[in-house]
Formats: sequence, structure tokens, C-alpha cells
Amino acid sequence: MKAIWLDCDPGHDDATAIMLAVHCSNVSLLGVSTVHGNASHYNIQLNAARCLEAFGADPSIKVYPGAVKPLIRPVRYDSEIHGGDGLGGVEGLPSPDDPRICERLNHPGGPVRAIEAIAKAIKESWKDGSGERVVVISSGPMTNIALFVSVYPELLGGVEEFVFMGGAVGLGNRSAVAEFNILCDPEAAQIVLDAPVKKIMIPLNVTHTAIFTKAHHSSLLNSEIIQDIAESTSELLKASSPLRHMLSTLLGFFASTYKSTFGFHLGPPIHDALTVAYVSQPELFRCTRYRVDVELNGTHTSGETVVDIWNYRETDDTWGNTGKNTLVAETLDVDGFFKLFMEC
Ligand code: BDR
Ligand code: CA
Repeated sequence: MKAIWLDCDPGHDDATAIMLAVHCSNVSLLGVSTVHGNASHYNIQLNAARCLEAFGADPSIKVYPGAVKPLIRPVRYDSEIHGGDGLGGVEGLPSPDDPRICERLNHPGGPVRAIEAIAKAIKESWKDGSGERVVVISSGPMTNIALFVSVYPELLGGVEEFVFMGGAVGLGNRSAVAEFNILCDPEAAQIVLDAPVKKIMIPLNVTHTAIFTKAHHSSLLNSEIIQDIAESTSELLKASSPLRHMLSTLLGFFASTYKSTFGFHLGPPIHDALTVAYVSQPELFRCTRYRVDVELNGTHTSGETVVDIWNYRETDDTWGNTGKNTLVAETLDVDGFFKLFMEC
């Protein structure tokens, strides 16, 4: 069992990451923190709580609000892809004023912010070296993670690895060369890349192969398939109709915005789910270790991840600011990934 923390900005594909984090049988979700990104932070924190509830997460798993804006740059949202509130078009989620949602956001003794909650979870799990390290996953801009790295350097030993969806090798989606999560807060991403912790980057090159096709959509709605899975595993997997309907509207909306914005005709790439899939089944990915930096000053290239695939930079073997700092995912076993997705 791997202990994980999820920092996210739900977001349709973040919602699928939450689903995997709750239901992958070999991971244990300690908590969820939220960050500005796909929509305003106000909406994002509610969405995270609504998703946890919809996916049947244990009530002890709470949502901790984090940064409402990037370290330096102006905040930006992505309503074209995710709708005005971050989960546009999704039917069947608990409403934001449902008492269960307030409970997920309510912390006895007053508000606890993202970085404090991450620090507490790591301290309790790691126990200064005698316990278990925590995998910290990021599926949004990396502002919270950069703040955690800067404020709690003494706890980095308790981080097993940072796994993040973001960046690309020579590709962009919210500029010609920059991916949305990195573009939102490039300085935060560079702080995380420089941290002396193992990092795994899941870039667009790989997430664009995880397309939720019409065939996957039919499987999701096909009760016989669901029944088979349920019988062969456990009662818990007997997906209820409302849950299938919710996921269907979620992935349907995401498909329509990806088609109209980026011309993805086969279906949307469910980027963020791959972060949790990596933790649960790393063998689904082939990765290579490179030096990765973020372009912070470029006139046309700000937010680009510069992946040194030809090893031009002199680097050492550390994960920190002089080393080959990042394991970059290069290929995905797509069928294996969707098997895991459907089981969840
Ligand atoms: C990333 O940007 C967001 O729109 C998605 O949630 C994902 O994390 C893809 O570039
Ligand atoms: Ca996201």
C-alpha cells in the first residue's frame, strides 16, 4: 500500500484522478489539497469535496485549501475547457451547499491550509524516518508544492517522490510550447524541479495517448461489463447508475470542449488520472531520467519545459538543482491504463 497526497484543481480530468486515488486498491489517500488553476479557487475546493463525496471516499479524507494565485504572475483560469466553475456540464454531483460538502471542508479547531496539512500528513506517516514516506501528487499548477518545498525543507526526506502532470517535450497546449499547469505558475514549477526529491513528470506527449474514446464511453455505460467487473472483484465495485451518469456527463463535456478547442475528434485526453495510475502501476510507463527546467524569461516561450534529451547540460546524479532532476514518462501502456480506470 502506498500513502499518497493529492494536490489538484478539479477540473474534469482532476476528477478522474480523484476517482483513481480513492479506488486504486494499492494506494491509500491521506488527503486532498486544492490550488488555483482550471477555475477560481473558491470553485476548485468545492469541486474537490464534491468529487470525494461522489466517489464514496471515506469521510475522514478532507479537503485543504491552498494558494488562490501563482507566486508571481497573474492568475488565469481555463473556462474554455472546464466551464466557468471548473466542472462544467457535470450532472449528479452533490450540490456545494450539501452538508457533507461543508463537512469535507470543515476542520475541527479552525481552517488548516494546504501546506500545513501536507506537512502534518508527512510527519505522521514518516515519523522522522521510522515510518512510511508519502508520494505527493500534483495535477494542477505547482504553487502549493513549491510553497511546501520552501517552508518545510526538513520534511523533504519524508517525500517518496513528487509525481506531477505538467509540461511536455517540445509541445504546448496553452501556448505554442507551454502546457497549462506549468504556464500558470512557471516559477513554482522550477522551485519543485530544483528540490532534492525524486520527481516524475507525466507530460502532454504521454497524456495525449490516454484518449477516452467512444468505445470507452460505451463500456462505462454498459451494465454487463460493470457487472462482470463487480462479480470478479468485490461488492464495492458495483457501480451505481447515478455514478455512471455523472461520469458520462463529465467525460462527455470534456470530449466536447477538447473537440471544439483542440480538434480532438477521438475523445479527450484524461491527463491527470495518469499521475495516480503511475503510483499504482508504474510498470504501465516507460520513463527516462533527464534534466528539466522551465523557461522563465522567454518572449514567446515562457512556461515551456526544457527537457535536455541530448544531455547538453553538465549534470550530476542528484534530483536537485544541478542534477538530472526528473524521470520523464515517455510511453504508456494505454490498454493497461484503461483497464485500471474501468476497475476503479
Ligand atoms: C492540464 O491542464 C488542465 O486543464 C488539466 O486539468 C490538466 O491538469 C493539462 O494541460
Ligand atoms: Ca488539473
